[in-house]
Amino acid sequence: MPDPRETRVLLEHAEDPALRTIAGYKGYGGYATLERSYREMEQDEVLKELEDSGLRGRGGAGFSMGKKASFLPRGEMAKYLCCNADESEPGAFKDRELMQRNPHQLIEGIAIAALAADAGHAFIFIRGEYDAQADILDAAVAEAYEAGYLGTNILSTHRDLELVVHRGAGAYICGEETALLDALEGKRGNPRLKPPFPAVQGLYGGPTLINNVETLSNVPRIVANGAEWFRGFGTEQSPGTKVVSISGGVRRPGNYEVELGIPTRELIYGLAGGPREGREIKAFFPGGSSSPVLTAAEGLDLPYSFEAMAEAGSMLGSGSIIVADDRVSIPHLALRTARFYHHESCGKCTPCREGTNWTVKMLERMVHGEATPMDLDIVSSVQENIIGHCLCVLGDSMAMPVGAMVRKFRDEFEQVMAAAGPPLDDETRLAAVQGPAETLGASI
Ligand SMILES: Cc1cc2nc3c(=O)[nH]c(=O)nc-3n(C[C@H](O)[C@H](O)[C@H](O)COP(=O)(O)O)c2cc1C
Ligand code: SF4
Repeated sequence: MPDPRETRVLLEHAEDPALRTIAGYKGYGGYATLERSYREMEQDEVLKELEDSGLRGRGGAGFSMGKKASFLPRGEMAKYLCCNADESEPGAFKDRELMQRNPHQLIEGIAIAALAADAGHAFIFIRGEYDAQADILDAAVAEAYEAGYLGTNILSTHRDLELVVHRGAGAYICGEETALLDALEGKRGNPRLKPPFPAVQGLYGGPTLINNVETLSNVPRIVANGAEWFRGFGTEQSPGTKVVSISGGVRRPGNYEVELGIPTRELIYGLAGGPREGREIKAFFPGGSSSPVLTAAEGLDLPYSFEAMAEAGSMLGSGSIIVADDRVSIPHLALRTARFYHHESCGKCTPCREGTNWTVKMLERMVHGEATPMDLDIVSSVQENIIGHCLCVLGDSMAMPVGAMVRKFRDEFEQVMAAAGPPLDDETRLAAVQGPAETLGASI
């Protein structure tokens, strides 16, 4: 059952399993907005509603959805819409729930957004591990075709939209919008150089609108109720509700839909139940593992909005809070974070390929007692040299949180290094790396 402190719009009726079927969805008024917009609205009217609503992308960057759709050039060329359902950022699991519980809301959102973008083909790029959710989407898309909401001459309006569900193969980088396009085209999913931006030259070289699952799921209600209704939720700069994934050191991890601007303390202590018995919150990632960590003192009393998180030097990102309580060793957390990004780096550009590799090596040395205090400054400077120097923001996604952890918890790094013992001399370090001489001999 939903918590009464939530403001459920996207997750309204989510506990009803019938919502997954087209009959259940229509029973709650679903597809009425698609019917009205396809029959009665022009592209510019839909676009204006989306722009006026101030809806910001829910996939990470928080860019205005309506503005992005308005960047697509007009003309007869083929245009595309891609729904980003790759959701592979550690801490994020809200799109999974939105697709699993209300797939038709997303399909209706895609169809209406396709009107705004004048796109004739749409794709849902879903992460490979979301097998069950992809099956649910496949079934829902088939129902929508059957009902005449997709395909050619939709509702006899002479408007067409083909929608394909495409399963990814398990690479985090394919969530980056241009890598997603390459993967959809059947290539290895590597980020492209921008500009040109996808809105101008995207899938198969055509203008392409790329939006996150949650962003697109908001579209039917905005067009149904109007931009002003949407602006009635949230803050001036962060309108609407947000499905927030909360995990880590809390009693009730899960997805909670709230108005943007809610106190962060209310999310972590109220809805997620606060830290476990006898524990205290030390820090948290406010927007997935790529966001700079905030200490409890810095972050708990901030409003949970795009602007407040940015002012605090972090970001709301995909809206995924990971809580670290006082049992968590920040140096080990930094190492774990760095390992993830190192593993997922596509290797195309040097600062990210080498920087993630060296950061992992240096953090390993720190927690294994092989580092000197100077290494802390070196690891910080490596992060500074990654930020803003990569082809895509995967490199920054490691450098920002790791840099923040070293900066804000330097004493903890020093304690870990001291507890691990004095730095090893060269001979001992070599032996530690190579193993004892007899083992070496045996393996040759
Ligand atoms: C490494 C990397 C991974 C990303 N993964 C996702 C993802 O899984 N889902 C998503 O919506 N956006 C992801 N993004 C952001 C997308 O590039 C893009 O900004 C987003 O899909 C745009 O949709 P929105 O404007 O609706 O947020 C990722 C970005 C990077 C750099
Ligand atoms: S930043 Fe990393 S993931 Fe992005 S293109 Fe460069 S090497 Fe690849």
